[in-house]
Amino acid sequence: MSLHISAKPEDIAKTVLLAGDPLRAKFIAEKYMQGVELVSQTRNAFYFTGNYKGKRITVGASGMGCPSIGIYSYELFTEYDVDTIIRIGTCGAYTPKLKVFDLINVDEAASESTYAKYAWGIKGDVIKHQGKAHKIIKKTAKELKIALKHCNIHSSDIFYRKSKEVPKVAEKNKCLAVEMEAFSLFANAQYLGKTAATILTVSDVIPTHEFISADQRETALLPMMELALESCLNLD
Ligand code: HPA
Repeated sequence: MSLHISAKPEDIAKTVLLAGDPLRAKFIAEKYMQGVELVSQTRNAFYFTGNYKGKRITVGASGMGCPSIGIYSYELFTEYDVDTIIRIGTCGAYTPKLKVFDLINVDEAASESTYAKYAWGIKGDVIKHQGKAHKIIKKTAKELKIALKHCNIHSSDIFYRKSKEVPKVAEKNKCLAVEMEAFSLFANAQYLGKTAATILTVSDVIPTHEFISADQRETALLPMMELALESCLNLD
């Protein structure tokens, strides 16, 4: 039991997939996993533990934004002794060089968030993925012939803003897309010596206003879900 997750200590696997949306976590558990148990539903942030091709995995919800995933990932790493968290989410592309449905394995997350500085004294505005998961995701994508791009992304604290320009922190750190969570996940993993990666599907291209429609979303995210699950099998 922790403050925000009510699972028993033994009910969370060492490898966790985190989606922003609790219903996406439920979808993954029901579609892909066997022997699934709902192990926590505090605040409707569902966590399911079960087997994927014989490997025990937990899939759960992070909520939106650095503060929310900061809480869930910290409790998973420290109260449940989780080794690896792979975030799966969507992002908005800052450039038309990225297309909707593109899959990204995040190299580094840059942010205007004060999270890493005030939580852990981590200096600077950019944090790398942590540990071996990133490399394993890259290798797994190659094996499965899933097209996967690599770049830095902006973990923004802000979804709606006045200016249409790409924020300075994103430009400075060559971020090609924006989401809202990877930075504090990577900060927690760095401070705690844990493994963390983030895989994103481009759901919208900001300059062209292209986006994946609501009914395309279910199938659009399947390659990312499958890559994340298959990567878990290759973790060890
Ligand atoms: N901004 C922030 N997060 C996002 C976006 C966006 O445009 N698209 C998907 N996640």
